[in-house]
Amino acid sequence: MKFPEHRARRLRQNAGIRKLVRETGLEASNFMQPVFVVPGSKIKEEISSMPGVYRFSSDMICSEVEEVKKCGIPGVLIFGVPEKKDDKGTGAADKNGIVQVALKNIKKEFPDIIAATDVCLCAYTKSGHCGILDGNKIDNDRSLAALSKMALSHARAGADMVAPSDMMDGRVAAIRKELDDSGFTDTIIMSYSAKYASAFYGPFREAAHSAPAFGDRKTYQMDPANSAEAIKEMKLDIDEGADIVMVKPALAYLDIIQKASQVLDVPIAAYSVSGEYSMILSAGAKGLLDGQAAMMEALLSMKRAGARIIITYYAKEAAKIIKQARD
Ligand code: PBG
Repeated sequence: MKFPEHRARRLRQNAGIRKLVRETGLEASNFMQPVFVVPGSKIKEEISSMPGVYRFSSDMICSEVEEVKKCGIPGVLIFGVPEKKDDKGTGAADKNGIVQVALKNIKKEFPDIIAATDVCLCAYTKSGHCGILDGNKIDNDRSLAALSKMALSHARAGADMVAPSDMMDGRVAAIRKELDDSGFTDTIIMSYSAKYASAFYGPFREAAHSAPAFGDRKTYQMDPANSAEAIKEMKLDIDEGADIVMVKPALAYLDIIQKASQVLDVPIAAYSVSGEYSMILSAGAKGLLDGQAAMMEALLSMKRAGARIIITYYAKEAAKIIKQARD
């Protein structure tokens, strides 16, 4: 018998055959682009911790959404970076708040774009925590009403999808009920279900001015050591009415994405967070690796693991790279 008996390299010998047998691939339609909205007008400022990512005032946000749309990306995930903060994060549900105004502007100009919003109090509370405090403790049940009101105000302003990222127990059920009671039965809930207490959120907290003023988020976000618990969280959220469940971060949690995609029957979203973006791009900028190729490889790993939706700050760039490779 001739050695070697099996030649796996046969199917790798040229670009044509590699293309023909490729199991997965990235598409622009897989992506959502996060966008940051700030008060004021005529503002487009780069976020120092995230080169290439900008904060926009609500009058400027449509220029960004236009580019997103041109790239063939179906949706944006909107984050508010408000000026005013208080103990209860009341600004979050203000019908004239920055996110609400941005939503109105976006949906007026681009009715087909999927406008999703982050629902969380951390950018709106003085404490920088994701819920309302009772002393130094985050009061789960009191936070639910505030989060539900925030979600409803987003739906009223035109959000197609709300994405609770606070990690309070019962928030999906509370938000679903609040939306349904007001007639927003079609508003989609994409829940940040398996959201870990991660060091990879560092650059985002600079971007959104949402770092906790004291302590950390370990009493509500998940312990990175846990896997079975992630499936439990996702199942609970589906049971409470989540249409899409998310794993966050993505790169260090590919095992969770894979497991979720095998045992759950709703679309899985992977959030490739700020730290993943800044880490790869800065290594690229230093010449340590090819930043663009490494980023595409990282995003592909999320798709291969089973994510249907990938939320990434690199969405526009990735979509352009995919298109160039095809043309
Ligand atoms: C709000 C929120 C955070 C992120 C998304 N929504 C920050 C946090 O939980 O501290 C992180 C996103 C990123 O790092 O890209 N709670």
